[in-house]
Amino acid sequence: MEILPIERYDTPRDVASAMALLAQAGTAARIVAGGTDLLLEMKRGVRRPGWLIDISRIPGLDQITHGADGYIHLGPTVTHNKVAQSALLRRHALPLVQASLEVGAPQIRNRGTVAGNLITASPANDTIAPLWALGAEIIVAGRNSRRVLTFPQFFTGFRKVDIRPGEMLLDIRFRPLSDRQRGFFLKLGLRRAQAISLVNVAVVLTFAEPLQPGQSVGGNRIADARITLGAVAPTIIRSPGAEAALRGETLSEAAIDRAARAAAADSRPIDDLRATAVYRRDQIRVLTKRALQAIASGEAEKSLPERIVSLWGKNGGRLPFAAGTAPTGHHIAGHDRIETTVNGRKVCWENASRLTLLDALREHDHLHGPKEGCGEGECGACTVWLDGAAVMSCLVPAARAHGAEIVTIEGLSNGRKTHPLQDAFVRQAGVQCGFCTPGIIMSTAKLLEELPNPNREEIKDALAGNLCRCTGYAKILDAVEFAVREMTE
Ligand code: FES
Ligand code: FES
Repeated sequence: MEILPIERYDTPRDVASAMALLAQAGTAARIVAGGTDLLLEMKRGVRRPGWLIDISRIPGLDQITHGADGYIHLGPTVTHNKVAQSALLRRHALPLVQASLEVGAPQIRNRGTVAGNLITASPANDTIAPLWALGAEIIVAGRNSRRVLTFPQFFTGFRKVDIRPGEMLLDIRFRPLSDRQRGFFLKLGLRRAQAISLVNVAVVLTFAEPLQPGQSVGGNRIADARITLGAVAPTIIRSPGAEAALRGETLSEAAIDRAARAAAADSRPIDDLRATAVYRRDQIRVLTKRALQAIASGEAEKSLPERIVSLWGKNGGRLPFAAGTAPTGHHIAGHDRIETTVNGRKVCWENASRLTLLDALREHDHLHGPKEGCGEGECGACTVWLDGAAVMSCLVPAARAHGAEIVTIEGLSNGRKTHPLQDAFVRQAGVQCGFCTPGIIMSTAKLLEELPNPNREEIKDALAGNLCRCTGYAKILDAVEFAVREMTE
């Protein structure tokens, strides 16, 4: 069991209350929404904020809107899955959607927010490069202040951003891509899911003439180019060489090749345990070339799957509360009571606000189905449902469960003997030691609620965040397909 350095945890009702708390706390507090990065940093001792102000239940902050001012706006609690499922963003901000789909796994994307990805400010974070290429701006505000920052102003150094004490990020805004613009994002990781970028590239091109969807760009000249590179410098950088190589040109193979080489020349990567600088620089060339080729062919839009697996079931990522009725909370470590519902039963955990949700379930409720494999959001063994969505419970503060509904593997059968997936795993030998199985069942049960007839690729997407160290995955996939057939019949 891990004790987190949380002394106080507040869940305010609205932005004004959050700002009042921030003003009171000075530098002691930190805003948290998904917490997927922050909890990891706290576990590793990188940050010890002591006081967390959870804005994840403030109504309206999770909205993606196309405002009358012409901007697309992302509220500070918009999750990566919300971005991935947004029809507006698929049409007008493809590189951001592609990047959000590259973040972690579905359970992480149900909690992790775009705003959090920006504030963590790792040069390898996936959503910074596309938003930078889209020319996005960030609005931060305090009780009596409001500032609009460009990306170069906001990112001040390695993992450093310009947010002052008492301020919070309120809005991310950018212009939608027009019919003269096309964009693309590509990432290279060590595997397809749950991988940090070795490098990533975002491209936004503005052409002289309008383009039809799916049309190749042909002889249309490039009026402007914005190319951003991730994980090759202390912050995301633009590639002035690649941009200059494209301006005024058509997107010919020769121009693409020149731009790709210029992007590699502009990058300044380091050697680390995941890749050498030489390899990273060469992969910048490869990714830039592929992104430009995808734009040239008009095939860019086809890069997204038709159906996105979110593991948020029927909830669609919405808070399960009417506006203004979400539970608020005020927890002081050592004197706290977390009142929640677990598997349909009301429970109260005393002095649990320094724990993760996983540890609270295991230690206070003696529910040992959710397992701790990694404790860092990598293995999915701790997957439970929080307010209807699958999450990694090792990365959820226990206090977030106050007033929430939790379902663990123990509650899955819901009065029946076992869930059809549990039967299928036994009959198809999808279980060996069984350590990963509760997490895998919780992920796939949520998938079947969302997509009753998933294909094999969609089942793989659902299990991208669940590792099994002994069976191999073929029997697991077979078991899920078996359960789908049984449930359909
Ligand atoms: Fe939570 Fe591994 S993902 S224990
Ligand atoms: Fe042993 Fe998956 S069955 S870890």
